Amino acid sequence: MLEQMYHQLGHDLKSLIGEDPKFPHRAALVSLISLLKENHPKISWVGVYLRNDDQSEELYIGPYQGKTACVLIPPGKGVCGAAFRQNKTLIVPDVEDFPGHIACDSLSRSEIVVPLYHRSRLIGVLDLDSHELNAFTTVDQMALESLLKRIEQLP
Ligand code: SME
Repeated sequence: MLEQMYHQLGHDLKSLIGEDPKFPHRAALVSLISLLKENHPKISWVGVYLRNDDQSEELYIGPYQGKTACVLIPPGKGVCGAAFRQNKTLIVPDVEDFPGHIACDSLSRSEIVVPLYHRSRLIGVLDLDSHELNAFTTVDQMALESLLKRIEQLP
């Protein structure tokens, strides 16, 4: 069922952004965030944290949907900082088991964070939170990585 949701979401994203190779990456990302929030049954918050300059690992809040979130992730901190530093997707089934988890929303129980690339540069992370424990699996990981890959080369 979740696979079907992601399949449909891929179609919806394609019909929104079309085949225009000049469609901006940022506009595609914002649309993806909205589609995820609207369609994923378990998401309480979804958005991106973006590096401000190539020399720093500080991550600043980017486009998102959900309750007002923390604006800055210090280098390597929280799930977002760890996923960015390790450059790999992290699935956290229970945020209380993740040392250093940053609680922007006290109701948040589980999380998945995916590295975000733009034209082969690591620019930040995509973060999905849920009020449910164990909300995210490798199904989400594979689908999210693939959706991000599809828009990565846009300008
Ligand atoms: N929980 C994240 C912080 C961002 S909020 O969830 C929106 C973390 O530990 O990095």
